[in-house]
Amino acid sequence: MFGKDAAGVVVQAAADGSGPPAGTRVTSCAGTGGWAALRAVDTTDLAVVPDGVDLGAASALPAAGVTALQAVRRLGPVLGRRVLVTGASGGVGRFAVQLLARAGAHVVAAVGRPERAEGLSALGAAEILVGSQRPGAPVFGVLDNVGGALLAECFERLEDGGLVLSIGWASREPTVIDFEEMRMKGGVRSLEPFAVAAPFGPGIGYLLQLLDRGGLDPQIGWRGPWERVGEAVDALLGRRVPGKAVLDLTA
Ligand SMILES: NC(=O)c1ccc[n+]([C@@H]2O[C@H](COP(=O)([O-])OP(=O)(O)OC[C@H]3O[C@@H](n4cnc5c(N)ncnc54)[C@H](OP(=O)(O)O)[C@@H]3O)[C@@H](O)[C@H]2O)c1
Repeated sequence: MFGKDAAGVVVQAAADGSGPPAGTRVTSCAGTGGWAALRAVDTTDLAVVPDGVDLGAASALPAAGVTALQAVRRLGPVLGRRVLVTGASGGVGRFAVQLLARAGAHVVAAVGRPERAEGLSALGAAEILVGSQRPGAPVFGVLDNVGGALLAECFERLEDGGLVLSIGWASREPTVIDFEEMRMKGGVRSLEPFAVAAPFGPGIGYLLQLLDRGGLDPQIGWRGPWERVGEAVDALLGRRVPGKAVLDLTA
């Protein structure tokens, strides 16, 4: 059974008493089971949804939001620093733009086509790069969701002491980095493969608080009933969803 993210109502509390009681609204992340009517989730990987927050919005947060949150934290202090987000139009990207702006970064958002940039300035992007456009000035950090040639070019545009986090590989293109050129440039630049890590509960809880206070937009770019799952998948694969797709399952 597929599906990492799912929000719903607890039907059976954890036997060890570590989780919320039956009837509590929660959102969660797990390796699988999110596309089922019922699933068991580790109580460290869920968070209680505040009364004012819609379950659909809460369901958009776990994997993409916590990935963005942990990656921003991994970069360290970004106040006043230039940080590039590639694949900024997608789920992880739209959360990363918002969280970086909140942390005081000068956010540079890279997207594939002009229409994919819609809404990113309002979320906090100070600069938008479209297609083959690259940052005019060096950047302190990069959150890369795309890989391939774009990742290599981003690494070359890092300032001395900067860090690229390779989060995803949406392009499925090989990445060829000219380390000889980097050596000739001098300085120290870092590139790390980044993987989100459990437990998800604390991160989801923080993002829910932000959502509840109006400090975070879940960026739901597509929403519909479960029966239209094929349409949602086509739209995601066709790069037509700005942010997250949410499927509503009614009992
Ligand atoms: N490391 C981790 O722990 C972790 C956690 C979650 C996700 N991920 C990975 O991070 C990446 C982003 O996740 P996501 O949920 O944000 O995905 P998403 O919503 O599908 O966004 C991916 C973005 O990549 C861009 N892109 C560029 N070239 C592409 C291509 N050839 N095919 C598809 N998209 C392309 C698209 O932007 P444009 O259309 O504007 O070009 C798209 O908005 C994925 O590779 C995912 O598997 C990693």
